[in-house]
Amino acid sequence: MAGRGNFSSKIGFIAAAAGSAVGLGNIWKFPFEVGQGGGAAFVLVYLAFAFILCFPVMVTEIAIGRRTQKNPVGAFSDLGFRNWRWLGIMGVLAGFLILSFYNVVAGWAFGYFIEMVTGHFEIGQHFGEFTKNFVKVGGYGLIFMAATAFIVSRGISAGIEKASKILMPSLVIMMLGLVIYSFTLPNAGKGIEFYLLPDFSKITLPVVYRALGQAFFSLSLGMGALITYGSYVGKNDNIVSSAAIITLADVGIAFLAGLMMFPFVFSQNLPPTGGPGLIFVTLPGIFQSLGPVLGIVIGSVFFLLLSFAALTSTVSLLEVPVAYVVDEHKIPRKISVWVIAALIFIIGIPSLLSNGASDLFSSFITYPGAESATDFMTFIGHVANDTFLPLGGALIVIFAAYVWKKHNLNNELEQGFAGFKGSFVEKFIDLSISYIAPVVLLSIFILNVLDRFFGVQVF
Ligand code: TRP
Repeated sequence: MAGRGNFSSKIGFIAAAAGSAVGLGNIWKFPFEVGQGGGAAFVLVYLAFAFILCFPVMVTEIAIGRRTQKNPVGAFSDLGFRNWRWLGIMGVLAGFLILSFYNVVAGWAFGYFIEMVTGHFEIGQHFGEFTKNFVKVGGYGLIFMAATAFIVSRGISAGIEKASKILMPSLVIMMLGLVIYSFTLPNAGKGIEFYLLPDFSKITLPVVYRALGQAFFSLSLGMGALITYGSYVGKNDNIVSSAAIITLADVGIAFLAGLMMFPFVFSQNLPPTGGPGLIFVTLPGIFQSLGPVLGIVIGSVFFLLLSFAALTSTVSLLEVPVAYVVDEHKIPRKISVWVIAALIFIIGIPSLLSNGASDLFSSFITYPGAESATDFMTFIGHVANDTFLPLGGALIVIFAAYVWKKHNLNNELEQGFAGFKGSFVEKFIDLSISYIAPVVLLSIFILNVLDRFFGVQVF
Protein backbone atom coordinates (compact mmCIF):
# COMPACT_ATOMS: atom_id res chain seq x y z
CA MET A 1 0.00 0.00 0.00
CA ALA A 2 2.97 2.23 -0.53
CA GLY A 3 2.13 5.82 -1.13
CA ARG A 4 -1.26 5.78 0.51
CA GLY A 5 -2.46 6.80 3.90
CA ASN A 6 -2.34 4.14 6.54
CA PHE A 7 -5.33 3.29 8.61
CA SER A 8 -5.05 0.72 11.33
CA SER A 9 -6.66 -2.34 9.88
CA LYS A 10 -9.45 -2.84 12.41
CA ILE A 11 -11.77 0.06 11.86
CA GLY A 12 -9.69 1.02 8.87
CA PHE A 13 -11.87 1.15 5.90
CA ILE A 14 -15.30 1.93 7.30
CA ALA A 15 -13.94 4.80 9.38
CA ALA A 16 -12.06 6.19 6.41
CA ALA A 17 -14.85 5.85 3.91
CA ALA A 18 -17.54 7.11 6.28
CA GLY A 19 -15.24 10.03 7.15
CA SER A 20 -14.95 10.77 3.45
CA ALA A 21 -18.67 10.52 2.85
CA VAL A 22 -19.88 12.49 5.85
CA GLY A 23 -19.00 16.13 5.49
CA LEU A 24 -20.23 19.44 4.20
CA GLY A 25 -22.26 17.52 1.63
CA ASN A 26 -24.53 16.26 4.41
CA ILE A 27 -24.80 19.27 6.67
CA TRP A 28 -24.24 22.26 4.40
CA LYS A 29 -25.25 21.11 0.92
CA PHE A 30 -28.08 18.64 1.50
CA PRO A 31 -30.37 21.10 3.36
CA PHE A 32 -29.86 23.87 0.84
CA GLU A 33 -30.45 21.56 -2.11
CA VAL A 34 -33.64 20.31 -0.47
CA GLY A 35 -34.62 23.93 0.14
CA GLN A 36 -34.09 24.91 -3.47
CA GLY A 37 -35.48 21.65 -4.81
CA GLY A 38 -38.89 22.12 -3.26
CA GLY A 39 -38.57 20.08 -0.07
CA ALA A 40 -39.82 16.55 0.51
CA ALA A 41 -40.11 15.69 -3.19
CA PHE A 42 -36.36 16.23 -3.54
CA VAL A 43 -35.70 14.10 -0.45
CA LEU A 44 -37.71 11.25 -1.92
CA VAL A 45 -35.87 11.27 -5.26
CA TYR A 46 -32.54 11.55 -3.43
CA LEU A 47 -33.29 8.53 -1.24
CA ALA A 48 -34.34 6.42 -4.20
CA PHE A 49 -31.11 7.27 -6.04
CA ALA A 50 -28.94 6.62 -2.99
CA PHE A 51 -30.17 3.08 -2.52
CA ILE A 52 -30.99 1.91 -6.03
CA LEU A 53 -28.16 3.52 -8.00
CA CYS A 54 -25.46 4.77 -5.65
CA PHE A 55 -25.13 1.80 -3.35
CA PRO A 56 -24.30 -0.58 -6.25
CA VAL A 57 -21.82 1.97 -7.64
CA MET A 58 -20.17 2.10 -4.23
CA VAL A 59 -19.86 -1.68 -4.05
CA THR A 60 -18.32 -1.68 -7.53
CA GLU A 61 -15.79 1.04 -6.77
CA ILE A 62 -14.65 -0.63 -3.56
CA ALA A 63 -14.33 -4.01 -5.30
CA ILE A 64 -12.15 -2.53 -8.06
CA GLY A 65 -10.01 -0.84 -5.43
CA ARG A 66 -9.53 -3.93 -3.31
CA ARG A 67 -8.80 -6.08 -6.32
CA THR A 68 -6.13 -3.77 -7.78
CA GLN A 69 -4.82 -1.92 -4.71
CA LYS A 70 -4.43 1.08 -6.96
CA ASN A 71 -5.39 4.67 -7.56
CA PRO A 72 -8.26 5.05 -10.07
CA VAL A 73 -5.98 5.59 -13.07
CA GLY A 74 -3.71 2.64 -12.30
CA ALA A 75 -6.65 0.42 -11.35
CA PHE A 76 -8.13 0.21 -14.85
CA SER A 77 -4.73 -0.47 -16.44
CA ASP A 78 -3.99 -3.04 -13.82
CA LEU A 79 -7.08 -5.03 -14.73
CA GLY A 80 -5.77 -5.07 -18.30
CA PHE A 81 -7.75 -2.22 -19.85
CA ARG A 82 -5.36 0.61 -20.50
CA ASN A 83 -7.89 2.58 -22.54
CA TRP A 84 -10.04 2.98 -19.47
CA ARG A 85 -7.29 5.01 -17.80
CA TRP A 86 -9.02 8.15 -19.05
CA LEU A 87 -11.94 7.33 -16.82
CA GLY A 88 -9.52 7.44 -13.90
CA ILE A 89 -8.06 10.69 -15.18
CA MET A 90 -11.52 12.20 -15.38
CA GLY A 91 -11.93 11.22 -11.72
CA VAL A 92 -8.68 12.90 -10.77
CA LEU A 93 -9.81 16.09 -12.54
CA ALA A 94 -13.20 15.96 -10.84
CA GLY A 95 -11.35 15.68 -7.52
CA PHE A 96 -9.40 18.84 -8.34
CA LEU A 97 -12.56 20.77 -9.12
CA ILE A 98 -14.51 19.53 -6.14
CA LEU A 99 -11.76 20.19 -3.64
CA SER A 100 -11.19 23.67 -5.07
CA PHE A 101 -14.64 24.84 -3.97
CA TYR A 102 -15.16 22.43 -1.09
CA ASN A 103 -12.15 23.93 0.64
CA VAL A 104 -13.71 27.39 0.40
CA VAL A 105 -16.81 26.27 2.30
CA ALA A 106 -14.68 24.33 4.78
CA GLY A 107 -12.81 27.59 5.34
CA TRP A 108 -16.11 29.35 6.08
CA ALA A 109 -17.02 26.75 8.71
CA PHE A 110 -13.57 26.98 10.24
CA GLY A 111 -13.72 30.78 10.09
CA TYR A 112 -17.06 30.81 11.91
CA PHE A 113 -15.52 28.70 14.65
CA ILE A 114 -12.51 31.01 15.01
CA GLU A 115 -14.59 34.19 14.94
CA MET A 116 -16.95 32.79 17.56
CA VAL A 117 -14.27 31.73 20.02
CA THR A 118 -12.34 34.96 19.60
CA GLY A 119 -15.45 37.06 20.17
CA HIS A 120 -15.51 38.55 16.67
CA PHE A 121 -18.82 37.11 15.71
CA GLU A 122 -21.76 39.34 14.93
CA ILE A 123 -25.06 37.91 13.90
CA GLY A 124 -27.20 39.51 11.24
CA GLN A 125 -25.44 40.66 8.13
CA HIS A 126 -22.50 38.49 9.09
CA PHE A 127 -22.53 35.93 6.30
CA GLY A 128 -22.51 38.34 3.37
CA GLU A 129 -19.97 40.57 5.09
CA PHE A 130 -17.84 37.58 5.88
CA THR A 131 -17.71 36.01 2.41
CA LYS A 132 -17.12 39.41 0.83
CA ASN A 133 -13.92 39.77 2.80
CA PHE A 134 -11.35 38.13 0.57
CA VAL A 135 -8.50 38.40 3.05
CA LYS A 136 -10.52 36.61 5.70
CA VAL A 137 -12.00 33.82 3.61
CA GLY A 138 -8.72 33.44 1.71
CA GLY A 139 -6.82 33.15 4.97
CA TYR A 140 -9.17 30.59 6.49
CA GLY A 141 -9.19 28.66 3.21
CA LEU A 142 -5.40 28.65 3.12
CA ILE A 143 -5.19 27.33 6.67
CA PHE A 144 -7.72 24.63 5.85
CA MET A 145 -5.91 23.50 2.72
CA ALA A 146 -2.61 23.45 4.62
CA ALA A 147 -4.17 21.30 7.36
CA THR A 148 -5.49 18.89 4.74
CA ALA A 149 -2.11 18.71 3.01
CA PHE A 150 -0.34 18.20 6.33
CA ILE A 151 -2.49 15.19 7.17
CA VAL A 152 -2.26 13.65 3.71
CA SER A 153 1.52 14.18 3.60
CA ARG A 154 2.01 12.22 6.79
CA GLY A 155 -0.26 9.43 5.74
CA ILE A 156 -3.51 9.40 7.57
CA SER A 157 -2.31 9.15 11.12
CA ALA A 158 -3.65 7.18 14.01
CA GLY A 159 -4.27 10.51 15.72
CA ILE A 160 -6.83 11.64 13.18
CA GLU A 161 -8.41 8.23 13.20
CA LYS A 162 -8.82 8.31 16.98
CA ALA A 163 -10.02 11.87 16.95
CA SER A 164 -12.63 11.12 14.32
CA LYS A 165 -13.93 8.21 16.38
CA ILE A 166 -14.79 10.70 19.11
CA LEU A 167 -15.66 13.76 17.07
CA MET A 168 -18.02 12.15 14.54
CA PRO A 169 -20.32 10.66 17.17
CA SER A 170 -20.13 13.98 19.04
CA LEU A 171 -21.38 15.75 15.94
CA VAL A 172 -24.28 13.31 15.63
CA ILE A 173 -25.21 13.70 19.30
CA MET A 174 -25.08 17.45 19.00
CA MET A 175 -27.29 17.35 15.92
CA LEU A 176 -29.78 15.13 17.74
CA GLY A 177 -29.90 17.71 20.53
CA LEU A 178 -30.48 20.48 18.00
CA VAL A 179 -33.19 18.46 16.25
CA ILE A 180 -35.06 18.10 19.52
CA TYR A 181 -34.65 21.81 20.23
CA SER A 182 -35.80 22.69 16.72
CA PHE A 183 -39.06 20.80 17.24
CA THR A 184 -39.95 23.08 20.17
CA LEU A 185 -39.73 26.28 18.13
CA PRO A 186 -42.70 28.18 16.72
CA ASN A 187 -43.52 27.15 13.16
CA ALA A 188 -41.47 23.96 13.49
CA GLY A 189 -44.43 22.07 12.07
CA LYS A 190 -44.27 24.02 8.83
CA GLY A 191 -40.62 23.13 8.46
CA ILE A 192 -41.28 19.45 9.06
CA GLU A 193 -44.12 19.51 6.58
CA PHE A 194 -41.91 21.12 3.93
CA TYR A 195 -39.24 18.50 4.56
CA LEU A 196 -41.36 15.37 4.86
CA LEU A 197 -44.65 15.82 3.01
CA PRO A 198 -43.90 15.40 -0.68
CA ASP A 199 -45.67 17.44 -3.30
CA PHE A 200 -45.19 15.19 -6.30
CA SER A 201 -45.78 17.99 -8.77
CA LYS A 202 -42.43 19.38 -7.65
CA ILE A 203 -40.53 16.47 -9.21
CA THR A 204 -39.19 18.25 -12.27
CA LEU A 205 -36.14 17.45 -14.37
CA PRO A 206 -33.83 19.85 -12.45
CA VAL A 207 -34.96 18.29 -9.18
CA VAL A 208 -34.09 14.86 -10.55
CA TYR A 209 -30.61 15.73 -11.76
CA ARG A 210 -29.77 17.80 -8.73
CA ALA A 211 -30.89 14.99 -6.43
CA LEU A 212 -28.73 12.57 -8.37
CA GLY A 213 -25.71 14.89 -8.22
CA GLN A 214 -26.28 15.36 -4.51
CA ALA A 215 -26.44 11.62 -3.86
CA PHE A 216 -23.18 11.00 -5.71
CA PHE A 217 -21.47 13.91 -4.03
CA SER A 218 -22.60 12.98 -0.55
CA LEU A 219 -21.52 9.36 -0.93
CA SER A 220 -18.13 10.37 -2.45
CA LEU A 221 -18.86 8.37 -5.61
CA GLY A 222 -18.10 8.65 -9.29
CA MET A 223 -14.50 9.85 -9.20
CA GLY A 224 -12.64 6.89 -7.80
CA ALA A 225 -12.22 8.10 -4.23
CA LEU A 226 -13.60 4.77 -3.11
CA ILE A 227 -11.40 2.89 -5.58
CA THR A 228 -8.47 4.51 -3.81
CA TYR A 229 -9.93 3.78 -0.37
CA GLY A 230 -10.97 0.28 -1.43
CA SER A 231 -7.35 -0.74 -1.30
CA TYR A 232 -7.57 -0.50 2.50
CA VAL A 233 -10.20 -3.23 2.65
CA GLY A 234 -8.95 -6.55 3.92
CA LYS A 235 -9.55 -9.62 1.77
CA ASN A 236 -11.66 -11.10 4.56
CA ASP A 237 -13.89 -8.09 4.88
CA ASN A 238 -17.38 -8.01 3.50
CA ILE A 239 -17.51 -5.24 0.90
CA VAL A 240 -21.27 -5.34 0.49
CA SER A 241 -22.07 -4.93 4.16
CA SER A 242 -19.40 -2.25 4.57
CA ALA A 243 -20.92 -0.30 1.69
CA ALA A 244 -24.37 -0.71 3.23
CA ILE A 245 -23.14 0.69 6.56
CA ILE A 246 -21.46 3.66 4.86
CA THR A 247 -24.54 4.42 2.75
CA LEU A 248 -26.90 4.22 5.72
CA ALA A 249 -24.65 6.35 7.93
CA ASP A 250 -24.22 8.99 5.27
CA VAL A 251 -27.87 9.19 4.27
CA GLY A 252 -28.89 9.08 7.94
CA ILE A 253 -26.71 12.06 8.85
CA ALA A 254 -27.94 14.07 5.87
CA PHE A 255 -31.51 13.25 6.85
CA LEU A 256 -30.84 14.42 10.41
CA ALA A 257 -29.34 17.67 9.13
CA GLY A 258 -32.54 18.40 7.20
CA LEU A 259 -34.68 17.53 10.20
CA MET A 260 -32.75 20.07 12.23
CA MET A 261 -32.57 22.74 9.56
CA PHE A 262 -36.12 23.24 8.29
CA PRO A 263 -37.79 23.90 11.65
CA PHE A 264 -34.96 26.41 12.24
CA VAL A 265 -35.52 28.04 8.86
CA PHE A 266 -39.28 28.33 9.19
CA SER A 267 -39.15 29.45 12.82
CA GLN A 268 -37.07 32.44 11.74
CA ASN A 269 -39.29 33.11 8.73
CA LEU A 270 -36.33 32.68 6.40
CA PRO A 271 -36.84 31.40 2.85
CA PRO A 272 -35.75 27.74 2.46
CA THR A 273 -34.23 28.68 -0.90
CA GLY A 274 -31.33 30.50 0.77
CA GLY A 275 -28.72 28.52 -1.13
CA PRO A 276 -25.11 28.05 -0.01
CA GLY A 277 -25.54 30.56 2.81
CA LEU A 278 -28.42 28.66 4.39
CA ILE A 279 -26.67 27.03 7.36
CA PHE A 280 -24.38 30.00 7.82
CA VAL A 281 -27.36 32.29 8.28
CA THR A 282 -29.92 30.01 9.91
CA LEU A 283 -27.78 28.41 12.57
CA PRO A 284 -26.22 31.58 14.00
CA GLY A 285 -29.73 32.98 14.39
CA ILE A 286 -30.66 29.92 16.42
CA PHE A 287 -27.48 29.99 18.47
CA GLN A 288 -28.12 33.63 19.26
CA SER A 289 -31.59 32.82 20.55
CA LEU A 290 -29.95 30.52 23.09
CA GLY A 291 -28.42 33.55 24.80
CA PRO A 292 -25.01 35.23 24.49
CA VAL A 293 -22.99 32.71 26.45
CA LEU A 294 -24.70 29.40 25.70
CA GLY A 295 -25.17 30.47 22.08
CA ILE A 296 -21.47 31.09 21.55
CA VAL A 297 -20.50 27.86 23.31
CA ILE A 298 -22.90 25.69 21.31
CA GLY A 299 -22.19 27.60 18.11
CA SER A 300 -18.43 27.32 18.33
CA VAL A 301 -18.52 23.63 19.21
CA PHE A 302 -20.87 23.02 16.30
CA PHE A 303 -18.68 24.78 13.75
CA LEU A 304 -15.59 23.07 15.12
CA LEU A 305 -17.19 19.66 14.68
CA LEU A 306 -18.39 20.63 11.22
CA SER A 307 -14.86 21.71 10.27
CA PHE A 308 -13.62 18.37 11.44
CA ALA A 309 -16.19 16.47 9.39
CA ALA A 310 -15.08 18.56 6.40
CA LEU A 311 -11.44 17.73 7.06
CA THR A 312 -11.95 13.98 6.81
CA SER A 313 -13.59 14.67 3.43
CA THR A 314 -10.96 17.08 2.07
CA VAL A 315 -8.34 14.51 3.01
CA SER A 316 -10.06 11.91 0.82
CA LEU A 317 -10.41 14.38 -2.06
CA LEU A 318 -6.71 15.25 -1.97
CA GLU A 319 -5.72 11.60 -1.60
CA VAL A 320 -7.00 10.71 -5.09
CA PRO A 321 -4.69 12.94 -7.20
CA VAL A 322 -1.84 12.34 -4.75
CA ALA A 323 -2.15 8.55 -4.97
CA TYR A 324 -2.21 8.93 -8.75
CA VAL A 325 1.03 10.91 -9.12
CA VAL A 326 2.78 8.93 -6.41
CA ASP A 327 1.86 5.53 -7.93
CA GLU A 328 2.00 6.34 -11.62
CA HIS A 329 4.68 9.00 -11.84
CA LYS A 330 6.79 7.94 -8.88
CA ILE A 331 6.94 11.45 -7.45
CA PRO A 332 7.69 11.48 -3.70
CA ARG A 333 4.60 11.73 -1.55
CA LYS A 334 5.50 14.93 0.33
CA ILE A 335 6.29 16.87 -2.84
CA SER A 336 3.16 15.60 -4.58
CA VAL A 337 0.95 16.59 -1.69
CA TRP A 338 2.18 20.16 -1.33
CA VAL A 339 2.34 20.87 -5.06
CA ILE A 340 -1.16 19.50 -5.71
CA ALA A 341 -2.63 21.25 -2.67
CA ALA A 342 -1.11 24.55 -3.83
CA LEU A 343 -2.50 24.06 -7.34
CA ILE A 344 -5.96 23.27 -6.05
CA PHE A 345 -5.88 26.29 -3.78
CA ILE A 346 -5.04 28.47 -6.78
CA ILE A 347 -7.81 26.91 -8.89
CA GLY A 348 -10.10 27.69 -5.95
CA ILE A 349 -9.37 31.42 -5.90
CA PRO A 350 -12.27 32.31 -8.24
CA SER A 351 -14.53 30.29 -5.91
CA LEU A 352 -13.21 32.28 -2.96
CA LEU A 353 -14.28 35.40 -4.85
CA SER A 354 -17.70 34.03 -5.81
CA ASN A 355 -19.75 35.16 -2.87
CA GLY A 356 -19.52 38.90 -3.00
CA ALA A 357 -15.78 39.58 -3.16
CA SER A 358 -15.75 40.02 -6.94
CA ASP A 359 -18.65 40.96 -9.19
CA LEU A 360 -17.24 38.99 -12.09
CA PHE A 361 -17.16 35.69 -10.20
CA SER A 362 -20.26 36.35 -8.10
CA SER A 363 -22.35 36.62 -11.29
CA PHE A 364 -20.24 34.46 -13.50
CA ILE A 365 -22.54 32.83 -16.01
CA THR A 366 -26.18 33.03 -17.03
CA TYR A 367 -27.52 29.73 -18.25
CA PRO A 368 -29.76 29.82 -21.31
CA GLY A 369 -33.28 30.55 -20.18
CA ALA A 370 -32.24 31.38 -16.61
CA GLU A 371 -33.50 34.51 -14.90
CA SER A 372 -30.38 35.33 -12.97
CA ALA A 373 -26.67 34.65 -13.11
CA THR A 374 -24.91 31.80 -11.34
CA ASP A 375 -21.72 32.41 -9.39
CA PHE A 376 -18.49 30.67 -10.31
CA MET A 377 -18.41 28.37 -7.28
CA THR A 378 -21.95 27.12 -7.87
CA PHE A 379 -21.16 26.67 -11.55
CA ILE A 380 -18.15 24.47 -10.76
CA GLY A 381 -20.39 22.46 -8.45
CA HIS A 382 -22.88 21.93 -11.27
CA VAL A 383 -20.12 20.80 -13.61
CA ALA A 384 -18.36 18.53 -11.14
CA ASN A 385 -21.09 17.16 -8.88
CA ASP A 386 -24.13 17.01 -11.11
CA THR A 387 -22.33 16.22 -14.37
CA PHE A 388 -18.96 14.51 -13.96
CA LEU A 389 -19.89 12.33 -11.00
CA PRO A 390 -22.98 10.66 -12.51
CA LEU A 391 -21.10 10.23 -15.79
CA GLY A 392 -18.15 8.71 -13.92
CA GLY A 393 -20.52 6.44 -12.01
CA ALA A 394 -22.22 5.29 -15.22
CA LEU A 395 -18.90 4.46 -16.85
CA ILE A 396 -17.60 2.66 -13.77
CA VAL A 397 -20.59 0.30 -13.68
CA ILE A 398 -20.50 -0.20 -17.45
CA PHE A 399 -16.83 -1.06 -17.12
CA ALA A 400 -17.47 -3.54 -14.33
CA ALA A 401 -20.49 -5.21 -15.91
CA TYR A 402 -19.41 -5.40 -19.54
CA VAL A 403 -15.64 -4.94 -19.79
CA TRP A 404 -14.12 -6.41 -16.64
CA LYS A 405 -17.19 -8.70 -16.54
CA LYS A 406 -19.54 -9.64 -13.80
CA HIS A 407 -17.99 -12.96 -12.85
CA ASN A 408 -14.77 -11.15 -11.93
CA LEU A 409 -16.68 -8.60 -9.89
CA ASN A 410 -18.67 -11.35 -8.21
CA ASN A 411 -15.52 -13.31 -7.38
CA GLU A 412 -14.15 -10.25 -5.63
CA LEU A 413 -17.40 -9.68 -3.74
CA GLU A 414 -17.67 -13.33 -2.70
CA GLN A 415 -14.42 -12.92 -0.74
CA GLY A 416 -15.46 -11.97 2.76
CA PHE A 417 -19.11 -12.67 1.93
CA ALA A 418 -19.52 -16.42 1.54
CA GLY A 419 -22.83 -17.10 -0.18
CA PHE A 420 -22.90 -13.79 -2.04
CA LYS A 421 -23.15 -15.57 -5.36
CA GLY A 422 -26.69 -16.63 -6.00
CA SER A 423 -28.04 -14.46 -3.20
CA PHE A 424 -30.74 -11.81 -3.51
CA VAL A 425 -28.11 -9.11 -2.99
CA GLU A 426 -26.13 -10.38 -5.94
CA LYS A 427 -29.22 -10.27 -8.13
CA PHE A 428 -30.05 -6.75 -7.00
CA ILE A 429 -26.52 -5.45 -7.63
CA ASP A 430 -26.39 -7.26 -10.93
CA LEU A 431 -29.69 -5.80 -12.09
CA SER A 432 -28.67 -2.33 -11.03
CA ILE A 433 -25.18 -2.20 -12.54
CA SER A 434 -26.07 -4.04 -15.75
CA TYR A 435 -29.26 -2.25 -16.68
CA ILE A 436 -30.82 0.28 -14.33
CA ALA A 437 -27.74 2.33 -13.43
CA PRO A 438 -26.21 2.64 -16.91
CA VAL A 439 -29.51 3.64 -18.53
CA VAL A 440 -30.71 5.98 -15.80
CA LEU A 441 -27.34 7.60 -15.13
CA LEU A 442 -26.52 8.20 -18.78
CA SER A 443 -30.00 9.55 -19.56
CA ILE A 444 -29.98 11.94 -16.63
CA PHE A 445 -26.44 13.00 -17.48
CA ILE A 446 -27.50 13.90 -21.03
CA LEU A 447 -30.72 15.61 -19.96
CA ASN A 448 -28.82 17.61 -17.34
CA VAL A 449 -26.30 18.90 -19.87
CA LEU A 450 -28.98 19.75 -22.43
CA ASP A 451 -31.32 21.38 -19.97
CA ARG A 452 -28.96 23.27 -17.73
CA PHE A 453 -26.08 24.22 -19.99
CA PHE A 454 -27.83 24.47 -23.36
CA GLY A 455 -31.37 25.36 -22.34
CA VAL A 456 -32.82 22.52 -24.40
CA GLN A 457 -35.97 21.22 -22.75
CA VAL A 458 -36.59 17.64 -23.76
CA PHE A 459 -39.36 17.39 -21.16
N1 TRP B 1 -18.86 13.22 0.38
C1 TRP B 1 -18.23 14.38 0.93
C2 TRP B 1 -19.30 15.22 1.59
O1 TRP B 1 -20.43 14.89 1.52
C3 TRP B 1 -17.43 15.15 -0.10
C4 TRP B 1 -16.45 14.27 -0.80
C5 TRP B 1 -15.35 13.71 -0.27
C6 TRP B 1 -16.53 13.79 -2.12
N2 TRP B 1 -14.73 12.91 -1.19
C7 TRP B 1 -15.43 12.93 -2.33
C8 TRP B 1 -17.44 14.00 -3.12
C9 TRP B 1 -15.26 12.29 -3.54
C10 TRP B 1 -17.26 13.34 -4.35
C11 TRP B 1 -16.18 12.50 -4.54
O2 TRP B 1 -19.03 16.21 2.17
